[in-house]
Amino acid sequence: MDKNIVVETKDLTKKYNGTTVVDQLNLHIYENEIFGILGPNGAGKTTTILMLLGLTEPTAGTATVAGHNPTREPLQVKRIVGYMPEKVGFYDSLTPRENLKFIAELNNIPYHTIDAKIDEILKAVGLSKQADQRVGTFSRGMKQRLGIADALIKEPKVVILDEPTAGLDPEGINQILDLIASLPKRGTTVALSSHQLYQVQRVCHSIAIFSRGKVVVAGSLDDLGRKALAEGHYRIEVEVAQASPGLADILAKVKGVSKVETKDNLLIVSADSDLRAELARTVVHANVPLVQMKIQEFSLDAIYMKYFQEKG
Ligand SMILES: Nc1ncnc2c1ncn2[C@@H]1O[C@H](COP(=O)(O)OP(=O)(O)OP(=O)(O)O)[C@@H](O)[C@H]1O
Ligand SMILES: [Mg+2]
Repeated sequence: MDKNIVVETKDLTKKYNGTTVVDQLNLHIYENEIFGILGPNGAGKTTTILMLLGLTEPTAGTATVAGHNPTREPLQVKRIVGYMPEKVGFYDSLTPRENLKFIAELNNIPYHTIDAKIDEILKAVGLSKQADQRVGTFSRGMKQRLGIADALIKEPKVVILDEPTAGLDPEGINQILDLIASLPKRGTTVALSSHQLYQVQRVCHSIAIFSRGKVVVAGSLDDLGRKALAEGHYRIEVEVAQASPGLADILAKVKGVSKVETKDNLLIVSADSDLRAELARTVVHANVPLVQMKIQEFSLDAIYMKYFQEKG
């Protein structure tokens, strides 16, 4: 499958007063994926986001967002990128509807479509009831929801969300995660930073873990799990109907298999690729009834903790 890169950085670097806070970063975000940016406080996530948006200038290196250089072409980038900052700010005397109308007009959204778009996005973020209430009276979570509506009203090609669920109640979190998950289908690529590992695991296709201005590991959850927790191996669990002496030796001879461990009816196969089809064929060929087979799943929590315990 050919995938287009929508956001790319090359040796992107930011120093503040001589201190490097983003260090020769090379990121790739593909079209219509949801990309999670993780890492401890101060790791450089927000600084990276600000450089992608042209809101702060890199000290060295370059960024490209949908074909544009944010430093040299900030207006083009702002036109196609939606952004929800870490701290959202609005005109307090306006209502959500008025705030969104203002943003929509600023972005040249066709006038006759604006009202319907506003109703739709307010519903998606759970603010329909408060559509005409002054934003100055809003709770933190309500402002956060409006921030997301703000970033999405122009149906951007790319949306960058800095901690989108911070301050939301559990129902709000679910609603916003569902909304984020629906964006690639509508042609919007998402980059989000978060400390909520479970939420990142739920919606992100790719993840980069930042530490001290560098990406320490990046890839799909499976890639990360294999790198951090399985010495780069695929672990495949093969469950058979009853313990079958000799099967472990047979599986160990399959090309690409490095180790087979046996626990009663379960054989845990370490391999250098996803050999499920080949293993299934081999089990059946050995006349052993196969109950099920699955590839080991990783929890982002375990991956993250492993990184920061060992390398933090
Ligand atoms: N305007 C600034 N001037 C000087 N130092 C800054 C500035 N902005 C950020 N920094 C420093 O850069 C480093 C990275 O900050 P950044 O805000 O990018 O971290 P972050 O990963 O977003 O953290 P958090 O998880 O807390 O949001 C920190 O050490 C911070 O103090
Ligand atoms: Mg931040």
